[in-house]
Amino acid sequence: MIIKSASFVCSSTKTEQCPKARLPEYAFIGRSNVGKSSLINRLTGHGGLAKTSSTPGKTQLINHFIINNNWYLVDLPGYGYAKVSKTSRSKFSGIIMDYINHREQLTLLFVLVDVRHEPQKIDLEFITALGEAGVPFALVFTKADKLSTGALVSNVAHYKEILLQTWEELPPVFVTSSETGTGRDELLDYIDQLNKNVN
Ligand code: GTP
Ligand code: MG
Repeated sequence: MIIKSASFVCSSTKTEQCPKARLPEYAFIGRSNVGKSSLINRLTGHGGLAKTSSTPGKTQLINHFIINNNWYLVDLPGYGYAKVSKTSRSKFSGIIMDYINHREQLTLLFVLVDVRHEPQKIDLEFITALGEAGVPFALVFTKADKLSTGALVSNVAHYKEILLQTWEELPPVFVTSSETGTGRDELLDYIDQLNKNVN
């Protein structure tokens, strides 16, 4: 898919403030600092579209970006960052859970995990919560540039094995790097296919 245009629409503090248009929507979720905002910038080819930072907890609101005037990319706050979630009773903040459970336009959620790490409990719990809520998702490994090819292949295979201990089937899996652009075309082509099937 070719990105002809990408622009910021709005930041929302809750789902009911999100754009009313009935367009296909793809949101990025994962632990703070995993690379959600960076990946949105790489996918769109617009470096400064979503704000990024080496300090976790940068994205605090639901940010909508409109792409090619006919679908949305959504940058969500991260989870698992102690300073941010301390006041919240749940591990996954109200803003995230409300969006995931109530945003009818959500076509697919991309769950990002850092490919360098062992599967983390919080991500596995989040994936389980998605399964229970019946939210369609794909798994996106980030920061692939930080590993050798061998380590990359073995970490991805290990993650899949862990998932298959609880899931009968694997979700779609993408391996990406916002540094090098690895996985960008695959991800955009996947979105393109889904867009064609959304009524
Ligand atoms: P929050 O908004 O705080 O939840 O973080 P985020 O998930 O949006 O992460 P963000 O995109 O702000 O990136 C966090 C840090 O990781 C930044 O310093 C990025 O430059 C770095 N980073 C993100 N993606 C990659 C990648 O693919 N490769 C490398 N080497 N660094 C990356
Ligand atoms: Mg962010």
